[in-house]
Amino acid sequence: MNRLYYGDNLTIMQEMEPASVDLIYLDPPFNSNRSYNAIYKDETGRPLPDQIDAFCDLWTLNEEHERAIRHMPVILREAGLDDETVEFWRLWMNALRKTQPTMLAYLSYMMQRLIVMKRLLRPTGSIYLHCDPTASHYIKVMMDVVFGNKNFLNEIAWCYKSGGASKRWFARKHDVLLYYAHSKGSHLFHPIKIKSYGQSGGGQGGKVKYHKDSQGTYSIVSARDWWEISMLSTTHPERLGYATQKPLALLERVIQASSNEGDTVLDPFCGCATTLEAAHRLKRNWIGIDIAIHAIKRVAAIRLGERCHLKQGKDFAIAGIPHSLEGAKDLWERDKYHFQKWAVEEVDGFVTAKRTADGGIDGRLYFDMPGQRDLQSMILEVKGGKNVSIADFRALHSVLEREEALMAGLITMEPLPDRQKTNFLKLAAQAGDLEMPGSIRHYPKLQILSVPEILEGKRFATPTPMGKSGSLQNRFSYAANPSDC
Ligand SMILES: C[S@@+](CC[C@H](N)C(=O)[O-])C[C@H]1O[C@@H](n2cnc3c(N)ncnc32)[C@H](O)[C@@H]1O
Repeated sequence: MNRLYYGDNLTIMQEMEPASVDLIYLDPPFNSNRSYNAIYKDETGRPLPDQIDAFCDLWTLNEEHERAIRHMPVILREAGLDDETVEFWRLWMNALRKTQPTMLAYLSYMMQRLIVMKRLLRPTGSIYLHCDPTASHYIKVMMDVVFGNKNFLNEIAWCYKSGGASKRWFARKHDVLLYYAHSKGSHLFHPIKIKSYGQSGGGQGGKVKYHKDSQGTYSIVSARDWWEISMLSTTHPERLGYATQKPLALLERVIQASSNEGDTVLDPFCGCATTLEAAHRLKRNWIGIDIAIHAIKRVAAIRLGERCHLKQGKDFAIAGIPHSLEGAKDLWERDKYHFQKWAVEEVDGFVTAKRTADGGIDGRLYFDMPGQRDLQSMILEVKGGKNVSIADFRALHSVLEREEALMAGLITMEPLPDRQKTNFLKLAAQAGDLEMPGSIRHYPKLQILSVPEILEGKRFATPTPMGKSGSLQNRFSYAANPSDC
């Protein structure tokens, strides 16, 4: 069955069958400090107050990257690379350490994943890595290392026209797709015929098999390694409100060229599931992975459910999202950070990107306050372990005061026993309610929710939680127009 996974693609791909995938397309984040902010900025007109710092942290050289870098020579040898290549990699990474630590963090993160992807490809398979000129030259060297430069097939320039232009350099109007075979010569390739926009006629006596893609492009001339496919405008019917969404036509071309009907296509950074829709349209099987729960639960499910009319459970399965207390406990046991992230995002919050506790703050839930220009936030803390004590409640209270935050919410695995609940309510009464002149609703400054309550749909009481009643929801329902998918 087609599968959509919520989680880090590294761990998920490590558990997949070797040689089980025919085609991989990946569009990983880079400079993705836009991610959270772009979505909120689009919807509210205002950036999230402190998320830029939080998201940039992804590419700060941290202990996790350092561990990966130290361990990489072993992994490369296990993957069958010779000593010279491993030594080259080590020297290269060391050279980047001083001059480009951000790039080093990014490349080590990508290298770990590319090695696993190579293992997943069948010998006839191929991979398209989507990036831009910021890092494409580095990534190409890395692809040569992992897939072998003899398996390099194309550097495709995806050219588009939209967006602004600089007065100080030529307008940057292309992305790069690095196309490699698992084993050049055995790889599958169907030449693609296209017709440029506005071009008429073919003059080939009707012998060419015409294909019309999502942008109405017909087949006539053999496609080159530069593709003119329009970016999606903000009002384009394909748009789902996902900041980094790619056009279906681009993915259709990749899938048609490098797979057959019934083959399996993997997108390990699937975002709002463009690849999955294209694969579905072209009768391929698919596997998508994304680490953002809003991508998996809302955008992808809307695309797959409402646009493609696919039924969860029958046509595809979503894996990795706890649906029960047992599932949540299992996630906690397997990956504490991921559990925290799930719990925060489940209540429409945003995680702190730092994997270590950030002074007792695991995430924030943003809301609108009448009369305030800036978004306000509730601090979120998650306790996945068994023993939650009065000391934890006091700690939450201190964070609320220290941060001069308006509200703080605690998420616990299990509902509190009665005595603990009384203790919490006493402390909450001391902290008082958010002052909302004219409002008849109470918004306690200290609140608590357990996982079972969250799974039943209960949420923290805030004046206007952005993920629920904000325009995000409206934007997603825009995608609910049935298509010919
Ligand atoms: C550039 S976007 C992909 C957009 C996608 N091509 C589309 O058309 O919607 C990159 C995606 O990778 C996801 N991501 C980042 N790190 C990840 C990881 N370690 N595992 C899985 N997904 C990840 C992000 O949440 C984001 O949705």
